Amino acid sequence: MSTNHKSSHSQWSSKIGFLMAAVGSAVGLGSIWKFPYMTGDSGGSAFVIVFIISIALIGFPVLVTEWLIGRRGQSNPAASFRKAAVANNTSPAWSLLGYFGILAAFMILSFYSVIGGWSLNYTLKAGINAFGGLNADATGKIFETMLANPTEMTLWHTAFMGLTALIVAGGVSAGIEKASKIMMPALAFILLFIVGYNAINMDFAKGAEFLFKFDLQRMQEVGVGKVLMAALGHAFFCLSLGMAIMVSYGSYLKQDVDLLATARTVIIWDIIFSLAAGLAIFPILFSNHLDPAAGPGLVFVTLPIAFGQMSLGVVVGTLFFLLLTFAALTSSISILEPIVEFLEEKTPMSRKICTLVGAVATWAVGVLALLSFNKLSDFAVFTIHKNGKDIPQGIFDALDYTSSKIMLPLIGLGTIILIGWFINQESVKRELGLDGMKWTIWQIVVKFVAPIGIIAVFLTELLG
Ligand code: PFF
Repeated sequence: MSTNHKSSHSQWSSKIGFLMAAVGSAVGLGSIWKFPYMTGDSGGSAFVIVFIISIALIGFPVLVTEWLIGRRGQSNPAASFRKAAVANNTSPAWSLLGYFGILAAFMILSFYSVIGGWSLNYTLKAGINAFGGLNADATGKIFETMLANPTEMTLWHTAFMGLTALIVAGGVSAGIEKASKIMMPALAFILLFIVGYNAINMDFAKGAEFLFKFDLQRMQEVGVGKVLMAALGHAFFCLSLGMAIMVSYGSYLKQDVDLLATARTVIIWDIIFSLAAGLAIFPILFSNHLDPAAGPGLVFVTLPIAFGQMSLGVVVGTLFFLLLTFAALTSSISILEPIVEFLEEKTPMSRKICTLVGAVATWAVGVLALLSFNKLSDFAVFTIHKNGKDIPQGIFDALDYTSSKIMLPLIGLGTIILIGWFINQESVKRELGLDGMKWTIWQIVVKFVAPIGIIAVFLTELLG
């Protein structure tokens, strides 16, 4: 085990460990509170098919490319991009993709840790039966009271960031890999338990129907174009792309790892976890006559009503929030890593100090983000125009919008253009072990389909 890069660059200790860390990064809040709702609301299994196509055409090639560039560079994301460009006689300015990726990671982690804090807080609340017998008004009030209290949120945000830093400080194999090897099976086990509980005690058929019914008509109602853009956008976010994460994870990879096969496995597991999350959530909602919603409202307001009313609600509720916390934690460690790797290589500080510096800096921005729910609620960084409306963006929303809607797609676009147009194609062909028809398809996707898809998502978001 090497936690000190100064002697040698770290490596994953096993393929399965790397796989679990990568799946852990992918399976996060996006998979648990966004994907199931999107699926149910946009055509069920018809949407799942659209999503799988989106992943195949955009997520898959970008994921493979990020690992490839990281593995070739064996350095922090900025240096890896620079090396890839320079080795192909192109401008070193491509390193900007790495710098912006690290900046995006920094911005995303700051507000993600605040939500991770909510999740920890709710694990405790569920454990002490704080939701017992409550209705929607009452659970809504608990959530609002938390949002109005900066001290409470700061404490939980600190705890979540502390856990993240503690794991990352341990190093790549002894910290991230080991923690993922514990948390991912735990996550799978909890998910299986809740789905099993639902199958026995809840209206499982109705939940499964909402999630899986092949409903083209629903997709048409929402708008096929809109659904497609949402699926493409999510394919990007859910695989943790454009955030320097996978470039950094790739830099710890050995040559003998098959990038294409591993990417396929990560994607399959991400989809399995996301669909299982839907089967853990919707049967509980429908059995308790509640309407599904998306995002924080679903998890922090609607589900607690059900936990407070059903038998074994304390157990299932606590396990659910523990599941959410684990999912968030295996994502947050992955996004702190590129920041730490960068500091480790650019400064003489030890890994532990780099982790401390990275975590404290992101934590501080996170505190500003959480103040936008209370003390700074009137302060807008900028205003966006969506569906004919002006929507002011407080610090929390501005961090989210700028990183996920603007930086990630642009970084992804740059990455795919670099691999398709500027890097020696023979070397890519050899490294990926592709030939014949498969190589032709790869080239068409990477040179044309993926860039056009990313530009379309970006413009839809910006102009929509
Ligand atoms: N794939 C992750 C998710 O769906 O939540 C994306 C992510 C977000 C990774 C935030 C890491 C992170 F800190």
